[in-house]
Amino acid sequence: MISGKAILAGVLGWPVKHSLSPTLHNHWLRQLGIDGAYVPMAVDPANLESVLRALPRMGFAGCNLTIPHKERAFEIVDTRSEIAERIGAVNTIIIQKDGSLHGTNTDAQGFMNNIIKKAPTLNKKKVVVLGAGGAALAVCAALQDAGFEEIVIINRTYEKAEIVARKFGAALRAAQWEAGEAEMEQASLLVNTTSLGMDGQEPLMLPLSHLPLDAVVNDIVYAPLMTDLLKQAKAKGNPIVTGIGMLIEQAVPGFEAWFGKPPPVTASEEALLLKQLRQ
Ligand code: ATR
Repeated sequence: MISGKAILAGVLGWPVKHSLSPTLHNHWLRQLGIDGAYVPMAVDPANLESVLRALPRMGFAGCNLTIPHKERAFEIVDTRSEIAERIGAVNTIIIQKDGSLHGTNTDAQGFMNNIIKKAPTLNKKKVVVLGAGGAALAVCAALQDAGFEEIVIINRTYEKAEIVARKFGAALRAAQWEAGEAEMEQASLLVNTTSLGMDGQEPLMLPLSHLPLDAVVNDIVYAPLMTDLLKQAKAKGNPIVTGIGMLIEQAVPGFEAWFGKPPPVTASEEALLLKQLRQ
């Protein structure tokens, strides 16, 4: 039931039709019996600012931002959280009482909560991160905050890996893509943040021969759920963590801020989203 008093939130993307967020948030609203709605909003980048400014005027509690809006939203919002400042992107806006837009980024927390839940005994010595784009920034911020001793960033464009490493400080260093295989030596965690392996993209083909057998392999790509990287890791006997959990975990802080209750994260949310992905 959505009444005239319903709390409103939604996701802005361009396109937005593939977003799983409406399914997830509306599932939580129903589960918790909250009078609210979460809607998809297809917003052309040229209209992002005017749409964001209209949200408080329409009584919205806030919104999420997905591709390609996260960096531009960072510039538009009135205030930003510390983690948004570090990542340089905003994926969650919480509208304040005075109608101002407060931007934050929940991708780092979403990534780490998923890893901690799925691999609670992971040691924090060495991690190899593949990619140096927007997603890598959130992952590196999370790994730095979690206290990983050595964070190696491998990217096709080496210069971008260097920029990310410099941005986050001493525990991070950049390495060439060609060195990726050897860099996996002694790593306890390998994370793919590139778009390789995603539906419609080329597969990620880095040999895992140097990766220790107990190293956790995580792909933040979730379509398909079992990427070639995860299949290769599983066949080798490594523990794997799929990307769907990060999508669910990153949604938690926004939901709680807008709708006033922490949403449950159980196996049923993963099952629900995987069912939608298959459709
Ligand atoms: P996102 O916000 O999802 O991280 P992005 O900022 O466009 O997206 O970053 C995409 C990442 O995937 C980058 O690290 C990119 O490498 P480059 O910096 O060299 O472009 C990586 N990537 C995309 N296609 C790739 C390919 N064919 N081979 C290797 N890396 C690729």
